[in-house]
Amino acid sequence: MELSTMQGACILTTGSAVPDSTISNHEISQVVDTSNEWIVTRTGIKERRLLTGCNQSVIDLAVLAAQRALKNIEMNPQEIDLIILATSSPNDLFGSASQVQAKIKAVNSVAFDLTAACSGFVLGLVTAAQFLQNGAYHTVLVIGADVLSKWIDWEDRSTCILFGDGAGAVIVQACSSLNNGILGFNLNTDGNYSHQLSISYKENRLVDFKPPIMQGAFDYITMNGKEIYKFAVSQVPLSILKCLQKLDINLDKVDWLLLHQANERILKAIADKLSIDLMKVISNVSKYGNTSAASIPLALDEAVQQDKIKKNDLIVISGFGAGLTWGTVIIKWTN
Ligand code: UT7
Repeated sequence: MELSTMQGACILTTGSAVPDSTISNHEISQVVDTSNEWIVTRTGIKERRLLTGCNQSVIDLAVLAAQRALKNIEMNPQEIDLIILATSSPNDLFGSASQVQAKIKAVNSVAFDLTAACSGFVLGLVTAAQFLQNGAYHTVLVIGADVLSKWIDWEDRSTCILFGDGAGAVIVQACSSLNNGILGFNLNTDGNYSHQLSISYKENRLVDFKPPIMQGAFDYITMNGKEIYKFAVSQVPLSILKCLQKLDINLDKVDWLLLHQANERILKAIADKLSIDLMKVISNVSKYGNTSAASIPLALDEAVQQDKIKKNDLIVISGFGAGLTWGTVIIKWTN
């Protein structure tokens, strides 16, 4: 576990994209044995967006989110030095970030994927901040994008009701003020529980060499929902408290709690543990479900578009999920 502080990296702009196609709880209940009432009561999710067209992938959503972020500040893509694409559902196992780089014409940037499931955006943002803080780069595009609909077993009611597709992007730039932007972070991993939530690789084909080579393919998402729920509600508040403590910031100074949008009950339970007023909890899980690495930047962009977030607001952002990974990043909004 690492706890650290850093300064000098500010979010300049946000953008997001979701597929046009909406699937309601009612429509899902035509496919598996579930109901709108069960899904709303247990998760708060009412509908989600799914990528339905042929030949569409995470790239299409990531590109749109990035282009919207760029357009907001009329930035030339050639100014971007680095693109970090946080995704666990690339369209190419070698990575999808380079395709995003080509499509948005960010010809001067280096680009790579970062795989950390629902914590991917937090890890991507912290990674970006390191490059900015040490002076290696000046402008970084961080995208969280996932299309987990492609990895769901649509006969498994315990998972298929939860996930949606989407993308969110931020452009982060080096900034001079020491007390602005990304103030600090706390990141954690516990691989002992990786089996509780995974898309595992299964070997099923023997190639007849001596010794033989096994080949296989990735399976559908499997999740122990109860264990992940308990993990999130117990570990995320601790991560937030450690991060605030390190920065010597009191909980009552927090303006917004922006958590990975997994389940409305999880958001409420974490806010409750921290005695944070529900009015300060940013939530759009009812409209989009769990969009994995996209959920935090998607909710951030929506809150910014709605003018909820004001200059100098303190935002506590926490991601959690497969790995298991979880982490917090604390931001003072500078726009
Ligand atoms: O992004 C990564 C992070 N992921 C998460 O944070 C997910 C965390 N977990 C959760 O959000 C919740 O555990 C779930 C929403 C997945 C499940 O809610 P729960 O309250 O923990 O339900 P449960 O798994 O304990 O299941 C309760 C009952 C079971 O029936 P029995 O055994 O009591 O007869 C399930 O079979 O509900 C049943 N059930 C369903 N019933 C109707 C499970 N899924 C469904 C369903 N519709 N879709």
